[in-house]
Amino acid sequence: MTPPREASQPRKPWGGRFAGATAELMERFNASIGFDHKLLHVDIAGSKVYARALVRAGLLTQEEGEQILAGLERVCDELSGPEHVFAAALEDIHMAVETRLIELIGPVGGKLHTGRSRNDQVNLDERLFVRGAVGATVGRIRHLQQVLVDSGAAHIDTIMPGYTHLQQAQPILFAHYALSLFWALERDTGRLADAAKRADFMPLGSGALAGSAFPLDRQFMAAELGFSAVTPNSLDAVSDRDFLLEILAALSILLTHLSRYCEDLIIWSSAEFAFVELDDAYSTGSSMMPQKKNPDSLELVRGKTGRVFGDLLSLLTAMKGLGLSYGKDLQEDKEPVFDAFATADDCLDVFASAWSTMTVKVERMAAAIDPATLATELADFLVERGVPFRDGHHVVGAVVRAATQSGRRLTELTLADLQQHHEAFDEEILSRLDPRASLARRNLPGGTGPDAVRAQLVQAREILAAAASA
Ligand code: ARG
Repeated sequence: MTPPREASQPRKPWGGRFAGATAELMERFNASIGFDHKLLHVDIAGSKVYARALVRAGLLTQEEGEQILAGLERVCDELSGPEHVFAAALEDIHMAVETRLIELIGPVGGKLHTGRSRNDQVNLDERLFVRGAVGATVGRIRHLQQVLVDSGAAHIDTIMPGYTHLQQAQPILFAHYALSLFWALERDTGRLADAAKRADFMPLGSGALAGSAFPLDRQFMAAELGFSAVTPNSLDAVSDRDFLLEILAALSILLTHLSRYCEDLIIWSSAEFAFVELDDAYSTGSSMMPQKKNPDSLELVRGKTGRVFGDLLSLLTAMKGLGLSYGKDLQEDKEPVFDAFATADDCLDVFASAWSTMTVKVERMAAAIDPATLATELADFLVERGVPFRDGHHVVGAVVRAATQSGRRLTELTLADLQQHHEAFDEEILSRLDPRASLARRNLPGGTGPDAVRAQLVQAREILAAAASA
């Protein structure tokens, strides 16, 4: 005797095998509908093309196909309404769509899943989702790159100390600093596009793991869904989440970039540096200390970077122990991906706004340049006079030490002082001991000299123009 099902429980699509009802705890634990409802639109798009493939294969009549297509449209409208609440008993978005379809159009709706498994279905949905999400994130990166180009153009004359080891190293242009992030972001767009290429294979027809037994035209489905090719192995297709891992890695690297610039700007907005001041709109105060203005926007971007690393690590960990092909562990792949995209998108928007509204304290930056950062100029000068660089470096080290010991800055030394260290110094060196002269000598492509930075701006603008027209 079959025990009666609880009245509240809808019939499960897989329920035939089961005599007993699912425990409520298990139902909640098993359900992914709480998050995979985000896949509604891509799931419907995939099902529509699948229905058309079933018609082409003679598994649905033309009329049945049309009924299913119209039904799917209605399901989509209904389920995407803001007031719609998904019941956990429906398990996931695939079952929620199918259940509602059958409610609306009757048993013919039950033909849609012919030759398909949720294993190839969810894999398709994720590939389609990733395509859209990557496009949106790259759009945000482009916006930030434009902010950086504008900032660089506005600060083509702004000089500042450049740092290594957080010690003043050599003077640079602030525009050079701004554009340094432009190029890092350019690599990020490349990594995301590359991951999207790996997602560009159409898995339908793979079934649960062994391929479908019906004569589905996979090339047709690939073309209709905008894929370049079909997956070449059904086992690999339903098991593959590489494209998600690659995206999580790419987003982690992107966030690492933002985080490093946040770190600089946080330090630079301290009273000790005061190179920049964030706008009130992107700062917050202290509940206790009335004087505080904290760079919380940047600190949060830095903090959320760790969260995206966590997303990558959680999926890597879920995958590593999983033999082929599908295991329910794979249901855990969605939340990290959704979270990483949402976090990265917010971070990009906040960072771009914080940057575009911050005040760059031009005089303060220039005044902070320690003349000792011009020591390389002295060594380079000696090189021009035929002194081997290593010897010149040693001589200038002694010059710096002598200046420090006598309490003078490098630029306060006289020509006679310098000549005591090396007879090759002549009056020309005095004009070299100026940050702008140092910059002007660094116009090699990629350097911080004003001409080289202007060339970078041209190149960066070309990239943005090409991306906008692509
Ligand atoms: N909700 C499932 C997931 O996200 C869909 C695939 C279920 N497949 C299965 N064989 N139970 O992974």
